[in-house]
Formats: sequence, structure tokens, C-alpha cells
Amino acid sequence: MDYCTFGRTGLEVSVVGMGAGGPSRLGVNTGGSEQESIAVVRRALELGINYIDTAEAYGTEEIVGKAIRGVDRDSIVISTKKNAFRKGGPVPMPLTAEEFVAGVEASLKRLGVETIDVFHFHGARLDQYSHICEELVPALQGMQQAGKIRHLAVSEHFASDFEHGLLRQAIEDDLFDVVMVGFNILNQTARRDVLPVTREKGIATECMFAVRRAFSNPTRLREILVDLRRSGEIDTDALDLFEPLDWVLEESDAKSLPEAAYRFCRHEPGIDVVLTGTGNIRHLEDNVASLLRPPLPSELVARLRKIFGRVHSVNGS
Ligand SMILES: NC(=O)c1ccc[n+]([C@@H]2O[C@H](COP(=O)([O-])OP(=O)(O)OC[C@H]3O[C@@H](n4cnc5c(N)ncnc54)[C@H](OP(=O)(O)O)[C@@H]3O)[C@@H](O)[C@H]2O)c1
Repeated sequence: MDYCTFGRTGLEVSVVGMGAGGPSRLGVNTGGSEQESIAVVRRALELGINYIDTAEAYGTEEIVGKAIRGVDRDSIVISTKKNAFRKGGPVPMPLTAEEFVAGVEASLKRLGVETIDVFHFHGARLDQYSHICEELVPALQGMQQAGKIRHLAVSEHFASDFEHGLLRQAIEDDLFDVVMVGFNILNQTARRDVLPVTREKGIATECMFAVRRAFSNPTRLREILVDLRRSGEIDTDALDLFEPLDWVLEESDAKSLPEAAYRFCRHEPGIDVVLTGTGNIRHLEDNVASLLRPPLPSELVARLRKIFGRVHSVNGS
């Protein structure tokens, strides 16, 4: 495993992070048993991954808690999250500071730890930002002082915020030590909108959405590319829709599109940790191997940057 300093947090983290959410949720979403999900996390630890990201909303905090039981607490970095607004009603309702703090306490219990290393506002949207800053950040700062949280973080709602409106504001205000940003071959807007500032300020970055469905399901990739042609975000003659990215494998040593997609993100300057979400141990092993491989050839990366450089309306799901 390769490790890096996680921005100004000073934490030493593996460049591969185990994502306990996404479409797989460690296999919970795809019919795996709890024991199988625990085995995925344990295998991640054996492979040298020390960064594990979960969330209240994923329903995987208890699984992570069981998987890390007995492991030296100082050897792992635990990241989790909570939504600042309650879903379910006709409109999302803001949580009070007391409700939010109670949620953090519940996460601590489910994880079975005394401190959460990185605590995110989960999938935050720009219209929620003032409530987060005015009501909830002070409450979390109190929890920091009490030693229950080490670093404050925010993850964006990349499913709707394709050009990082929330993160642009958050990094300008500089309240968070860590941000989770969507970035992949299709949507590279973070290179312009987020990464220059996070690098300058030493804000640590986690990359989500590196593969998603676009790079694990050829039919989905084709559908997305058809839409991007229609919207004019990629040129009509840029790619052959029947075998759109086969040339990436022909012109590199990458053996699969997920491998190419993970390597593309891993070597993007400014990205510290690339999260990989899977419920499949074989995929996990392949992904770790991919993420530890060298960058894709620079001409190939330049071509991917050029083809998808104007894309701003998709996230790869
Ligand atoms: N707003 C937020 O806070 C937010 C949003 C999204 C994600 N996240 C975090 O980021 C993490 C990463 O996101 P993600 O899980 O969507 O990431 P991802 O790694 O880009 O994509 C995961 C998807 O790709 C598949 N996959 C993974 N490796 C594969 C391989 N080698 N071959 C074929 N398919 C493969 C997985 O299915 P299999 O299970 O079959 O491998 C899964 O469906 C999440 O787990 C979560 O921790 C946060």
C-alpha cells in the first residue's frame, strides 16, 4: 500500500480508501450477508487500507464497527457522515444542533469507538449550507473539544451538484479540514473548481464516483455518452459509441475500464484518497492493485481531458 499525508489533518492515510456506501454498501445492497460485508472490510485492512468511510445513511457503521473490533485503533482512520436535513417528508427539514449531536453519539456507539477521525456533513447541498455553518458546525466544534471528533468534513451532493457549488463555497470559507469530491473520467470539473483551492489551503480530499456504473457497466456508459453528444458536451466524432473507450485499453497497460478509471483519479494532482466501493473481495483486490499502478500514459490522459473537458451535467451514475 502507498500512504500519504492527508492534507492539514496530518493523518497518514492509505491512498486507497474503503467506501462502505455507493451502490454496493459493502455488499449489503447486493444481497451479501453481514459476515461477508465484514470480510470485505477485514480484507481491506489486510491489504493495507487504513481509511474507511461509512455513514449513518448507509447502514454500514455497525458492520465497520464489528470489522475493526480488536484492531489497533491508532492504526485506522474512521470517516463517517450524517445528513444535516431529515428526508422523508414533502421537503427535507433541518436538524437541530441537539438532534445532530445525538446522531453523532449514535454513530460512535454503532462504530464502537470513542473518537471519529473524520466527520462529514453528508451529501450537503448549497441551500443547506447556511444552516450547517450557523447551527451545526458550532455543535460539532463542541464535540471536537470533547474529543469525540477529530476533523470536520463535508461531502457534496454530486448526484445534483455536478459543478461543486457547495464545495466551492465551503473551501472558500475554509471551515473543513477534509472534503469529499466527485471526480472521474467523465466529470473532471473538480480540477477547475475544487482542487486548486484545496491544494493551496491544505484541505484533504477524498475522491468519490471514480467508477460507479459508467465504468462498470458498458451499456450505462453508452447511454451517458449518447446524452453527452446530444447536449454538445462531447463532440459527435470524439468517440465510436460501439466501443467508446476500447482505445484506452489498447493504448495502455490497463486491463479493464474500472482499472483505467481508478488510475485516472488516483494520479490527479490534488486528490489524496480514492475511495473504492465494493461488496466483492475480488473487485477490492483488483482495485487496490489498480490504484497502486503507475499513471496512465500522459498522451492518453491528455486525450481524455480533451474529450471530456466540457462535460458538466453527469456524474457517472
Ligand atoms: N455524497 C457522499 O457522501 C457520497 C456519495 C457517493 C459515494 N460516497 C463514498 O464514496 C465511496 C465510493 O463511491 P462508490 O462506492 O460509488 O464508488 P466506485 O468505487 O466508483 O463504484 C462502485 C461501483 O463499482 C463497482 N465496482 C467496483 N470495483 C469494480 C471492479 N473491479 N469491476 C467491476 N465493478 C466494480 C461496484 O460493484 P461491486 O460491489 O460489484 O464491486 C459498485 O457498483 C462510497 O462507498 C462512499 O463511501 C459518498
